[in-house]
Amino acid sequence: MSNIYGGRGLEIVAGAGAVVRDAEGKSYVDFLCGNGSALFGHCHPVLTEAAQSALSAPWTISPSLVSTARDGLRRALSSLLPKGRVFLCNSGTEAIEAALKLALSFRPGRKRVMALRRAFHGRTMGALALTFNPQYRRTWWEFLLPVQHVSVEDAPGAIDEQTAAVFVEPVQGEGGVFPLDAEMGAAVTRACKAAGAILVADEIQSGWGRCGTVLAGSQIGLDPDIVALAKGVAGGLPVGATVWKGELGDFPSKGHGSTYGGNPVIASVALASWGLLQSERYPARALESGDLFASLIEDLKSPLVREVRHRGLLFGVELTVKADPVIRELQEKGVLALSAGPQVVRFLPPFTAEKENFVAVAKALDETLCQLKK
Ligand SMILES: Cc1ncc(COP(=O)(O)O)c(C=O)c1O
Repeated sequence: MSNIYGGRGLEIVAGAGAVVRDAEGKSYVDFLCGNGSALFGHCHPVLTEAAQSALSAPWTISPSLVSTARDGLRRALSSLLPKGRVFLCNSGTEAIEAALKLALSFRPGRKRVMALRRAFHGRTMGALALTFNPQYRRTWWEFLLPVQHVSVEDAPGAIDEQTAAVFVEPVQGEGGVFPLDAEMGAAVTRACKAAGAILVADEIQSGWGRCGTVLAGSQIGLDPDIVALAKGVAGGLPVGATVWKGELGDFPSKGHGSTYGGNPVIASVALASWGLLQSERYPARALESGDLFASLIEDLKSPLVREVRHRGLLFGVELTVKADPVIRELQEKGVLALSAGPQVVRFLPPFTAEKENFVAVAKALDETLCQLKK
């Protein structure tokens, strides 16, 4: 087995909402949530019911045949952009690959592709070229599409008529949890429109309500031509979606495809999750609980906390010390979190996290930081 993920030595056997239990019976508040994919918490009854009923119908329906669930999901997703067209796939990196292919085919002859410093867009070869961190790219450098990585401040001035596409995360996740501010969102949008460059919003981590609106970019004046989604869309089942403005056209003939994209089981769960965003007001609730969690962490007044950055339920706590030992100690104390760069502890709470879960995590963080201070 590849050792690429290291391993935390934890076997999870059960879970409900924001809490999971390991094989020894110990409970954890799970703010790691399958790297943000369990956005609705574990075993959400509505999603479980959707999955169970879909499992008793055909598990796979070829993309060229009609599936009611897939059509329903396509319709829901197409409402995100004007005359939205939709391509369904199985992961975030695939959603970015599709976005990249589309953007390059919509702007033939243009040679520049731009992404931001600190960006994370995935690990397949196209997406990897867009990802900033050289550690992820180094080995394959010479085989990657040339991408210009610019700071967000420099981006509007750098976009020109040779620019085919600009990729932006409304809130950078993996790169350290940096929300893009509204002024920059609007400036990047204006520059793309003026130059005719395709603006791609990577909403894989920030989207589907996590940051308080279905697309986080809507809060910062981003008007993307293409949106990439994944992670929480099917509550933790593998999914990816690329949505684009219909006026731009389509893939060239034979230009793309996927065996499993739009799988009826996944599409049924994703459609149920879309329903929950409306019926349970989850995006609005993400804003409320995000503010509550931020105030709990700020109230710790720990000298080891440099900054708390968040949009809704996408959280980064930048420390003055390394994040990994803190994350290990949090796990000992029954809290699962992840890092976002060397000194940022990232929390990705699900919509269904309760006040008591946020209080427990803030308390565990407080104890951990106090221990470290000694
Ligand atoms: C913003 C962003 N883009 C792309 C990806 C890649 O998604 P996946 O791991 O599903 O391929 C991720 C994953 O963390 C992400 O956060």
